[in-house]
Amino acid sequence: MNASASISKLATTIAQIRAETIAARRAGVKIGLVPTMGALHEGHLSLVRASKAECGLTVVSIFVNPTQFGPNEDFSKYPRTLDNDLKLLAACGAEVAFAPEASEMYRSDRSTTVDVGEVAEPLEGEFRPGHFRGVATVVLKLFNIVQPDVAFFGQKDFQQVQVVRRMVADLNVSVDVRACPIVREPDGLAMSSRNRYLSPAARRRALVLSRSLKRADELVRQGQCDAAVILAEMRAVIETAEDARIDYIALVDPETFRPAETIAGPTLAALAVKIENTRLIDNCLLSPRAPIL
Ligand code: PAJ
Repeated sequence: MNASASISKLATTIAQIRAETIAARRAGVKIGLVPTMGALHEGHLSLVRASKAECGLTVVSIFVNPTQFGPNEDFSKYPRTLDNDLKLLAACGAEVAFAPEASEMYRSDRSTTVDVGEVAEPLEGEFRPGHFRGVATVVLKLFNIVQPDVAFFGQKDFQQVQVVRRMVADLNVSVDVRACPIVREPDGLAMSSRNRYLSPAARRRALVLSRSLKRADELVRQGQCDAAVILAEMRAVIETAEDARIDYIALVDPETFRPAETIAGPTLAALAVKIENTRLIDNCLLSPRAPIL
């Protein structure tokens, strides 16, 4: 365990992290958990700051969770930058980082998983079969290991937040789940650990995602409420990037993730698009214009 002032404490075993959190809980300190897969950027750090603002002890988990990656996904090439992550966390004032090996997190004879049901089925659930089972299982394990009072997630992964909320409600997990806003680059690209896969030219083409959401927002603000019209315009913006491969462009109810046909209340615009083989996701909440009386 490293306790120097310049870097956050690093726990790599469940016993070490439990020793930290048990001591804090006994002292009546509120514990915040920020689950991450590392390769930290400002999006992650905004969650750390939100936790620091509310909690006396902030634990940031860094674990590239193998069970949430499909067989043809980027698990082996996912960026692993632990030394730099620890520096960023220390600069933000996170007290403890928990970075276990996969063998510490998963027993070889494990057999229990968490399946959340309806909200985990469409969109990411459809295009990444098994993804949310891996997410829900690892998040519940992290909740049980750290036993935080509050856990912080980003709206960048809007469906993930709903999956976690559903799990917490259905399984009576005693954690408050907070959702924090998407942090974007100045040109609009949502920050993501995967952005570093993009070549400079593809990085420019990737702006079609946020532009398409902006177009949807403009249309709704102008009073457009026909989902088919909005989806067609969003698609046209995405298709201006010649190599864009669309997994989905969707307008859904933000609670149930059922498709919206008209924009009658808050609606989630969500998309997943591959640019130069890198799969990017983004979303934005649309609110219909209040009717003029
Ligand atoms: P990861 O992709 O590392 O993201 C960790 C957290 O940071 C998630 O809650 C995510 O929504 C948030 N985040 C990522 N980019 C963001 C941005 N631009 N603005 C705001 N928040 C952002 O999501 C995961 O890891 C994993 O699925 C995990 C929950 C850790 C389970 O393995």
